[in-house]
Amino acid sequence: MKLSMDMVTSISVCTAEDMNWEGGGNCLVVPLYRKEFPLNSALLQEEEELVLQALVDREVLTGAAGTCYYLPAPSRPYSGVLVLGLGDRKKATAESLRRAVGKAASLLKANRVERIGVDLVHFPELPVPAFVESLNLAQYRFDTYKKEEEKPAPAVREVVLVVADSVDKAALLEAAERAAFFSVAANGARHLANTASNDMTPAVLAAAAQKIAEEGGEQCTCAVLDQQRMEELGMNALLGVARGSGKPPQLICLEYTHPEATRTITLVGKGVTFDTGGISLKPGAKMHEMKFDMCGAAVVLATMMAVTRLKPVLNVIGVVPAVENMPDGNAQTPGEIVRACNGKTIEVLNTDAEGRLILADALAYAVDTWKPDCIVDLATLTGAVVIALGHVAAGVVGSDSALVQSLVAAGESTGERLWELPLWEDYEEMMEGTFADLSNIGPEREAGTITGAAFLKAFTGDTPWAHIDIAGVSYGIRNKPYLKPEYATGFGVRLLLEWLTGRTAQSGQASE
Ligand code: BES
Ligand code: MN
Ligand code: ZN
Repeated sequence: MKLSMDMVTSISVCTAEDMNWEGGGNCLVVPLYRKEFPLNSALLQEEEELVLQALVDREVLTGAAGTCYYLPAPSRPYSGVLVLGLGDRKKATAESLRRAVGKAASLLKANRVERIGVDLVHFPELPVPAFVESLNLAQYRFDTYKKEEEKPAPAVREVVLVVADSVDKAALLEAAERAAFFSVAANGARHLANTASNDMTPAVLAAAAQKIAEEGGEQCTCAVLDQQRMEELGMNALLGVARGSGKPPQLICLEYTHPEATRTITLVGKGVTFDTGGISLKPGAKMHEMKFDMCGAAVVLATMMAVTRLKPVLNVIGVVPAVENMPDGNAQTPGEIVRACNGKTIEVLNTDAEGRLILADALAYAVDTWKPDCIVDLATLTGAVVIALGHVAAGVVGSDSALVQSLVAAGESTGERLWELPLWEDYEEMMEGTFADLSNIGPEREAGTITGAAFLKAFTGDTPWAHIDIAGVSYGIRNKPYLKPEYATGFGVRLLLEWLTGRTAQSGQASE
């Protein structure tokens, strides 16, 4: 299984004089803030300008956020003009641009546009990286299982950024290409997650990790701990979850090291390739969505893939406990008590709270093995986070406020919002077991996302740690036109890459 590298748009930068419209399928993109008429593009030919002005006069074209208009222009150097509504200038953000581009992408697709020239001459403030990444995210299609002839029509393959002569073209191109690469990595995670669970088993996840290491060069290695090795290490919390499945568990460890690194960061991703709930079986409705229970794993692997290419001055370790949670005759039953590899005992009162069980061993092992400066886990851990935050933000809980704040800041800039929930000791007390050190569930219906995190904290020792609950944002998103609700979102890949390659992760401090 390879991370999909499809839908890569090639990007170039030029001035209006140098813009060349050769070939078909060209479209001029003209941005428009709400009510900031007339349209502002020297590339617009007179006839289209007149038609568009008439539409402005009739209030068809307003520039309102997320409104786009495509005007075919068969006799022109370009074959059409797309007016991209940006909304009120004062309210415009990188995320509002991403959403506008998401809408535009459907229109471009419907009109079979393959190449766009975006006139930025009068819009130097537009965040070009957000434009490029949202286009790549919007154009991603998951068609592994479709017939060849049903595979989608050509999408935008080339983006020409048209700028004023004074603009630093090389810097703009570099920023745009970096954003394109981040979004390609995110699409890679989406591809792993969208793949059906019969084809995305723990072993397949491990093979994907091996491939990343092979292609990642000398600085990257991958070790996969099998069931026997995990038994030797006493990872009974993880192994207990895997017991009901015919598919053997894997503990995937991808290591990227840099010779000048002074910091080691560990990323841990929940890799439940299918979560039936086990003996505490889930209801049938929507159970198929539980193929997405490995989104944390997909995000960590895709991030590692990108890290091996971007080569930051850091050591980054990606750890993925991969299992399937099934209810067969050998499955773990409620009330069983297991001992994790750090010696702590856990009463498994609900076999559907399996994510925290596999993460317990993964976190304890990571802390002990790499002694990282900080550890961040991503997991589709609780339905409760959807109750708390809907599909709009992920919950973040941690033991180190600077670490949490630096992640929140990275998420704000990539449009992947995190909202911090508290982790007072009271919550940790709620996770104490009756017969064991810990229970794997807290009091029913009370602060489920936080109690899940409180459980995880018991396996992180003194290492600064943050837990991101992505159950609400990993799929089923409806508020971002650049993501399709039926697909996995790859939420976290761009956030982590921004965090790892920006200043924030290197210092461990929140940006000021
Ligand atoms: N994978 C689920 C969480 C989940 C729910 C992800 C909905 C995506 C959408 C997790 O393993 C789970 O079942 N959690 C339980 C925990 C409970 C038993 C304490 C839950 O949220 O109900
Ligand atoms: Mn579960
Ligand atoms: Zn789960």
